[in-house]
Amino acid sequence: MSIRDLGFGPLGIIGAGHLGSALALQLLASGIAPDRLLLSTGVSEAAQARLRATGLERWIATNERIAATCPYVFLTLRPRDWPVLKDLTFVAQATIASTIAGVPAAALEGVTRRRCLHVMPSGPDTIRGGLGICSLFPHHPAMAGILAEMGMRVVPLDSEEETQAFTAALCLPAVSVVAQSLGAALGPQWQDMERAFPRLAETFRWAREVAPVLANESDRIAYVERMATKGGITEVIVRSFRAGRSLASSLSDGIARCAEIAAAAEAAR
Ligand SMILES: NC(=O)c1ccc[n+]([C@@H]2O[C@H](COP(=O)([O-])OP(=O)(O)OC[C@H]3O[C@@H](n4cnc5c(N)ncnc54)[C@H](OP(=O)(O)O)[C@@H]3O)[C@@H](O)[C@H]2O)c1
Repeated sequence: MSIRDLGFGPLGIIGAGHLGSALALQLLASGIAPDRLLLSTGVSEAAQARLRATGLERWIATNERIAATCPYVFLTLRPRDWPVLKDLTFVAQATIASTIAGVPAAALEGVTRRRCLHVMPSGPDTIRGGLGICSLFPHHPAMAGILAEMGMRVVPLDSEEETQAFTAALCLPAVSVVAQSLGAALGPQWQDMERAFPRLAETFRWAREVAPVLANESDRIAYVERMATKGGITEVIVRSFRAGRSLASSLSDGIARCAEIAAAAEAAR
C-alpha cells in the first residue's frame, strides 16, 4: 500500500495544530492525492489562522466526518483534549495512530473502541525538513509504510514504557537550542546519556544531527516554542535544563512527566 494510491479511503488528522499541520503538509509533499486528506482543528483564532497561513484550510472537516469516513486517522490533539473522542464513532476497520505524548494506545482503544497505535514523531521542523523520526508501538507494517513514505525514520518499539523514554528523547534538539541560549556546551553530556540510556543511543544520535545551530535568540525561542506543547514533556525537560540540571537528569524529568500523563490517562478511562 502506498499513500499515492490510498485504496482504502481518506486519511484523517484530528487536531491539526503545530504537529498535525506539519504531518498534513508532509503527506501532501509525499504525494497523497488532495481528495484523500481531511483534517480538523479547534475553534481558537490561532488554530484557524495557522491553517489559513499554511494553505490547509480547504481540507478542514468535522471530527464526525473524519471518524465516519477515514480508515486511517492521526490523532494530534493535546493531552487534555483527547476525551472529545468519546463522542465519535469511527469506521469499523479504523486504525488510529495517536501522537499524544504520554497517553497509552490502550487508553485510547478504551474510548474509541478501535485499533490504536502510539506513534511518537519528532517536531514539525524535522518532519518538514525530511529529517523526522518516530516510534511505533505496537508493530504495524501498513502504518510503518505510510510513515516511511513521509520521509520518517521509523523506530518500532516493544512497549509503552519504551515509548515514554523515546518521547522524552525527541525533545533533546530543543534542549540543544536552549543550551546555545545559555552558552552551555553539551559535549561530554551526550556520552553520559548514552551510558545511562543505551537503548536510546540511535535517538540521541538523531537529536545531535538535527539540532540546528541558531545565531539569533528570537529564532531559538521560536524553535523551542514550536516543539513545546503546553503542559507537555518538552516544556518540563527545557525547564529542568534551564534550572541547571544535567542533560541526563532533565531527560529523566521528561520521562517522569510522560509517566504522569500516562497515569492520568489511565485514571480518566
Ligand atoms: N509539537 C510537537 O513537536 C509534538 C511532537 C510529538 C508529539 N506531539 C503531540 O502532538 C499533540 C499536539 O501537539 P501540538 O504541539 O501540535 O499542539 P497544538 O498546536 O496545540 O495542536 C492541537 C490542535 O488541536 C486542536 N483542537 C483542540 N480541540 C479540538 C477538537 N475538539 N477537535 C479538533 N481539534 C481540536 C487545537 O485547536 P485550539 O488551539 O483551538 O484548541 C490545536 O489546533 C500533543 O498531544 C503532543 O503531545 C507534539
